Amino acid sequence: MDRMRRLRMNPIIRDMVRENHVRKEELIYPIFVMEGEKICNPVESMPGIYRYSIDSMSQELDRVVEAGIKAVLLFGIPAHKDEIGSGAYDEHGIVQEAIRFIKSEPKYSRLLVIADVCLCEYTSHGHCGLVKDGMILNDETLPLLAKTAVSYAKAGADMVAPSDMMDKRVRAIRKALDENGFVNIPIMAYSAKFASAFYGPFREAAGSAPGFGDRKTYQMDPANGREAMREVEEDITEGADLIIAKPTMAYMDVIREMATAYNIPIAAYNVSGEYAMVKAAAAKGFIDEKKIVMEIMTGFKRAGAKMIITYHALDVAGWLDEQV
Ligand code: PBG
Repeated sequence: MDRMRRLRMNPIIRDMVRENHVRKEELIYPIFVMEGEKICNPVESMPGIYRYSIDSMSQELDRVVEAGIKAVLLFGIPAHKDEIGSGAYDEHGIVQEAIRFIKSEPKYSRLLVIADVCLCEYTSHGHCGLVKDGMILNDETLPLLAKTAVSYAKAGADMVAPSDMMDKRVRAIRKALDENGFVNIPIMAYSAKFASAFYGPFREAAGSAPGFGDRKTYQMDPANGREAMREVEEDITEGADLIIAKPTMAYMDVIREMATAYNIPIAAYNVSGEYAMVKAAAAKGFIDEKKIVMEIMTGFKRAGAKMIITYHALDVAGWLDEQV
């Protein structure tokens, strides 16, 4: 007689038949870098997460290296914003300089440095593209995104991750990278990025909330799973090497469908609002943080994600060490 419980009777058997594992090598840790000096500025809604100036970044990078995390995703907070987001593609912009710093320090230079490509942190209106008459322009934005990606590659980034959701941006970025000799720099595209309230804490952290309206004319409608597959298909056709699903916990079906339909590595982006909810509940003692976070991470793997981008990465790395 079939008895499913036979394989659950002791931890050795359970370990042996476990289908999915969270691995440190697959974790990507987001870091906010801010223009200025001696800054280590807490993000209120994200306990444990800080904005660092480059001269203060070492404390965080030391923790990253010590934890055995191999990859970081950089977001920049510039001192000045303007209509055209020029800080994003400034050769000496905050992210460009942070990349140079990481790559020039032997302790950190082996980290895989991924740079988020978007204009919203750099525009005075807070939108991810150029704005004219209240419209977010698509084609006019593409050269700026391409220029941003190339400047990150020039600074030494190992990978670029466009998060703007303009149509055809992967193609524009691929072409510009190739023309500038960066044929081996991969593009990790935020392919299925939904217009989500789960980005709230990030926008507080980066000061990037849209000054008017919302992002619904470029980010996806949370109701549309099938459309997400078209976005993925487009990005792969345009040259994406890896794809991102974002947010994650309310979108597990999207991750699963992506993994079933396409043979390309998928990153689950466990976003700021998801992190904030877990941290807030844990701080109140309502949930067991470690168990909840590991269950969430395992869920991403089961859904079909390969990599996990998460603010919990340092904690997860520590908990994985405890298990050995
Ligand atoms: C920039 C960008 C955002 C996030 C990643 N890249 C914010 C947004 O689209 O408003 C959100 C990440 C998070 O919430 O952790 N476009």
